Amino acid sequence: MPDDVLLETRDLAAGYNGVPAVRGLTLSVGPGEVVALLGPNGAGKTTSLLAMVGLVAPLAGEVRVRGEPLGRRKPHQIARVGVLLVPDDRGIFFGLTVREHLRLAGRKNDPSREAQVLDSFPVLRGLDGRKAGLMSGGEQQMLAIAKALLARPKVLIIDEMSLGLAPKIVQEMLPAIRDLARADGIGVVLVEQHIELALSIADRGVILNHGRVVLRGAASDLLRDRHLVEAAYFGAEEFASENDDKTLAV
Ligand SMILES: Nc1ncnc2c1ncn2[C@@H]1O[C@H](COP(=O)(O)OP(=O)(O)OP(=O)(O)O)[C@@H](O)[C@H]1O
Ligand SMILES: [Mg+2]
Repeated sequence: MPDDVLLETRDLAAGYNGVPAVRGLTLSVGPGEVVALLGPNGAGKTTSLLAMVGLVAPLAGEVRVRGEPLGRRKPHQIARVGVLLVPDDRGIFFGLTVREHLRLAGRKNDPSREAQVLDSFPVLRGLDGRKAGLMSGGEQQMLAIAKALLARPKVLIIDEMSLGLAPKIVQEMLPAIRDLARADGIGVVLVEQHIELALSIADRGVILNHGRVVLRGAASDLLRDRHLVEAAYFGAEEFASENDDKTLAV
């Protein structure tokens, strides 16, 4: 594992009422890297992300940030060390304007950062005084991500960014996130239903099914071996038992 790992999970299990929804999850993300966490509905993707930010307590294994175990740190303490989640409900307030969101999110008055973030999502510039509840789904999602980026996270964890969005918008937003990750050295963990779009901008992919990693590899390999990805999604159980955590050449 490289020295410059920002966030890693080691043999992580997490779930609800003591029952794991995800088990044996080992993954890492480094500066400027995008890792796509993929898998069918109910595979355990959201649970994995929630465990990374302390919203679900690990049942086994651990989460480390720059090598340091998070232990039982609370979500706000994990946010303070730079690990931020953009949840699938976007975590924005319908009654607040774009400007109000950005003001709340910027820890310090940091106009150059705000300009940099808005350059990535220029649509938001024209919506300054608009209440979030009166914006489109794509605009709301851009605001949610812009808000997170203003806090200069080290790791950005994004759950189902494209939920309810037109593919065209997703096609624009995913590359913007990849470029920002590279420019700022942010590690990104991305859960996404648009498999090909996600892999086309990710460095690596990890596919979960029934709470276990069934396939992982370099995004370019996964894109090429599309049939393996499909088997990992749809041929779930046979695939998992035959290929116990199959790894493509990375
Ligand atoms: N709050 C909860 N309490 C109990 N079980 C839950 C809870 N949230 C999720 N689960 C269960 O945990 C499993 C994994 O759910 P999770 O939300 O992590 O899946 P997911 O991969 O994010 O799915 P989706 O693509 O539908 O968002 C599912 O069986 C789900 O029913
Ligand atoms: Mg989910």
